[in-house]
Amino acid sequence: MNTKIIKVDKDKFKVEELEEAIHILRKGGLVAFPTETVYGLGADALNEEAAKKIYAAKGRPSDNPLIIHIADKKALEVLTWEIPKVAEQLIDAFWPGPLTIVFKKSDKVPLGTTGGLNTVAIRLPEEPISHALIKESGVYIAAPSANTSGRPSPTRAKHVIDDLDGKIDMIIDGGPVGIGLESTIIDVTSNIPTILRPGFITKDMIEAVIGEVEVDQAILDLGSDVKPKAPGMKYKHYAPKGDITIFEGNLEDVIMQINQRTKQKIENGIKVGIIATDETIYSYDYGIVKSIGSRQDNNSIARSMFALLREFDDLEVECIYTESFRDAGLGQAIMNRLLKAAGHHIINA
Ligand code: TXA
Ligand code: MG
Repeated sequence: MNTKIIKVDKDKFKVEELEEAIHILRKGGLVAFPTETVYGLGADALNEEAAKKIYAAKGRPSDNPLIIHIADKKALEVLTWEIPKVAEQLIDAFWPGPLTIVFKKSDKVPLGTTGGLNTVAIRLPEEPISHALIKESGVYIAAPSANTSGRPSPTRAKHVIDDLDGKIDMIIDGGPVGIGLESTIIDVTSNIPTILRPGFITKDMIEAVIGEVEVDQAILDLGSDVKPKAPGMKYKHYAPKGDITIFEGNLEDVIMQINQRTKQKIENGIKVGIIATDETIYSYDYGIVKSIGSRQDNNSIARSMFALLREFDDLEVECIYTESFRDAGLGQAIMNRLLKAAGHHIINA
């Protein structure tokens, strides 16, 4: 299949530029597009055949449900069985934005979209291209991250091209995304709302609006045998080709350990990449050293994490050593993704 790639400027574009993408979506085809979190791979959520194509293109297990993207909260009346009061409060506070809410689904949503579940995950993105695409097409767009299953999520069109060129109808290049980590997912179908995936909207932000929430035990005990409530969270994920090891502890000790181990690896002929920060980048003596962002600014770390993992792939790095980050606020989402990418391989420095 020939994949058409178009460039669209998210700050000034005309709806006509999206005409062909809209046509493809209405016909049951696949279009990758930017959102504020990561690039998504979109198809008509109510068309089971279209949803199936997403699984095929990504190589995604069929029990892993898709998030439906909407442009107006009125769509909830069509897609959900009921809208709990806490959901209303969350919507008023965080939509449009990087929060996905899990509802009981209506009969209109095919099981092929929800991986056989009787619940449905829904999000109303803020990014202008995605918003226009959903609104103007009139299609509820099912969209997972637009990467090959298991690889780091795409934060630029290049990442989508690397994974899906030739497998989908169109890629809309809207430039780098703003946030860089996937949306927070919260399930409001249980008595106490439960966070299933940490993201840019943090637990504290949510609790300030609806009071106490739970966090899925599988997130807290990452790497244990606890089964996550979001089916997709159980899969190996975000993994670059090189093996990642996270070093925890006092930063000076971490730097010393990484320096020692990198030297050894290089002596054995192994190509090593180091994930440093703006504050520490000059402390490393060996290896390919890259900054993931500033320790003073978690947003900068979130934004470049997946791109950096892919950069190390392009450089054919075999072994990646990384510093760790404080597990609070947005740091919880950052460490969640990093730990998964590392297959939970941590060393205490
Ligand atoms: O930021 C995002 O959410 C991006 C952009 C494109 O919107 N999308 C995204 O989709 O990250 P994906 O498919 O890569 O991750 C969706 C996650 C999976 O872990 C899936 O298991 C979970 O959401 N999920 C979807 N529907 C669910 C449901 N009904 N109940 C529980 N978890 C669900
Ligand atoms: Mg994904």
